[in-house]
Amino acid sequence: MSSPADIIYVDELVGSDETGNGTQTAPFKTAIKAVEKSDGDNNVKIQVKKDEEGFKDISGAALKKAKKSLVEQQRKAKKQEEQKKKQEDEQAKKAEEEAKALEHAKSIVLTEDETLPKAEKIKIRQGVESRGKRVKVSGWVHRLRVQGKDMMFVILRDGSGYLQCVLTGKQCHTYDAITLSVESTITVHGVINALPEGKTAPDNHELVVDYWYVVGKAPGGDDAFNNKVTTDADPSYMLDNRHLVLRGETASAVLKARAEVIKAFRAHYESRGYTEVTPPCMVQTQVEGGATLFEFNYYGEKAYLTQSSQLYLETCLPSLGDVFCLAESYRAEKSHTRRHLSEYSHLEAEMAFISFDEMLDALEDLICDVIDRIMAHEPTRKLIEQLNPGFQPPARPFLRMKYADAIKYLKDNDIKKEDGSFYEFGEDIPEAPERAMTDKINRPILLTHFPADIKAFYMQKCDDDRTVTESVDVLMPNVGEIVGGSMRMNDREELLEAYKKEGIDPAPYYWYTDQRKYGTTPHGGYGLGVERFLAWLLNRYTVRECSLYPRFTGRCTP
Ligand code: 4AD
Repeated sequence: MSSPADIIYVDELVGSDETGNGTQTAPFKTAIKAVEKSDGDNNVKIQVKKDEEGFKDISGAALKKAKKSLVEQQRKAKKQEEQKKKQEDEQAKKAEEEAKALEHAKSIVLTEDETLPKAEKIKIRQGVESRGKRVKVSGWVHRLRVQGKDMMFVILRDGSGYLQCVLTGKQCHTYDAITLSVESTITVHGVINALPEGKTAPDNHELVVDYWYVVGKAPGGDDAFNNKVTTDADPSYMLDNRHLVLRGETASAVLKARAEVIKAFRAHYESRGYTEVTPPCMVQTQVEGGATLFEFNYYGEKAYLTQSSQLYLETCLPSLGDVFCLAESYRAEKSHTRRHLSEYSHLEAEMAFISFDEMLDALEDLICDVIDRIMAHEPTRKLIEQLNPGFQPPARPFLRMKYADAIKYLKDNDIKKEDGSFYEFGEDIPEAPERAMTDKINRPILLTHFPADIKAFYMQKCDDDRTVTESVDVLMPNVGEIVGGSMRMNDREELLEAYKKEGIDPAPYYWYTDQRKYGTTPHGGYGLGVERFLAWLLNRYTVRECSLYPRFTGRCTP
């Protein structure tokens, strides 16, 4: 007689081959598993439950089928096992061969052929003029392509350009060649030759290497540059790794264009007779309202990071005439928009003895002349073409539009507030409707005559309507406001009144007020956000891309 332990139970409805053990309470799912468990013991019975009728002895045919299936299963498993082992053996052999090859590679040493002419050190930008001569170039491995055992193509980058270098034969067999990784620094010696028709490389030439060495190896594997900086990474990760992102073609093109644009601004001011000044960043006065001041402790006194150098520029007019500055301005803006930074490069200018219309003309002249200068400079024109293909300089004259007409425009074009109501005269036009209007008009706008109540305390009121000011914002498609400017109050009494209205203590502003005491004059100026100008010119989605290391709410690193 068999004991109950000699019965193996299979429940095709609720059993499990993984967690069951063949008892009635924990049955298997398949007869195959039961056959496996019986281990060829013919005394063991198998009972199967297929439906509500309960466990029944397995039929002869079913048992035969299960035994056959088990044999088949075991045969397959064995084969898989054998295959796996074979693969592992092959991998181990390959690794061993590679290790041997690497070990061997260490013994391959390149030496410079002393009979060749001495290699002259150049930067990549000097490549074209150095063709045919033996040169020495150092840089970072921007891209790397290995072609067979005897040829490697390296695109070298040194910040001044990109250069294709070809390594051949023994040069590809050294330990450093085999383990070379992107972003490693290397020095190459050789001759730059023009490429034949049909082949492409930067500047249409390549350096045929006769000697090279590694200066600093970058990691490969998981820590490799290309695994760290990927185009699909999320923006916050990219900002954490901005120091690496900057090496990319787009980010570096933006920075290069930025440097050229700044040069063009300076050249413009130089040609128009302005003097550059360098005002302080640490101040004890506000310009654009207390809400966005960054405060800090200055040897026990309250001080701020400057919001604008305007007040200081005004004080320079009597000694230097028209002046400009390019300085960092700081705004504690909680807004997380694509055009707000906490620290930005602020280009500001101030002019004496001018009318409001003359100031608007000067602004239009600034923007158009700077664009003309940039487009006339071939390398910069190419950068703009790379970043903003099809860019067309804006046509003159710019559209001049009064704030009151903008309010009307918003109504006529059904541009509303979130609550569905229209903007009314006297209300600030925020970023979204401003951009909706600018994008629709699709050309630069000089938006003028803002109500005094929504503008800074120092702005000159219009003679014929004291409710509005001689003020201007320059609006550009895709970005919106890139410039804010105005004529300044030049009457001392009126300015003292304005402080009072704004709740500002006039005492720390004595030097600004004095400006109206010792020879006042009509004067005005403006501030241009360099990152916003660049976002427009280079068609960048956000000003953050136009700043070296952007600062905004929640980010002050790297
Ligand atoms: O309109 P704003 O606040 O004007 C002034 O500061 C004046 N005191 C300038 C002057 O007349 N000298 O700022 C001028 C420009 C804006 O049009 C914008 O382009 C830029 O500075 N700007 C910012 N850019 C980036 N992030 C911010 N948080 C900015 N705030 C202003």
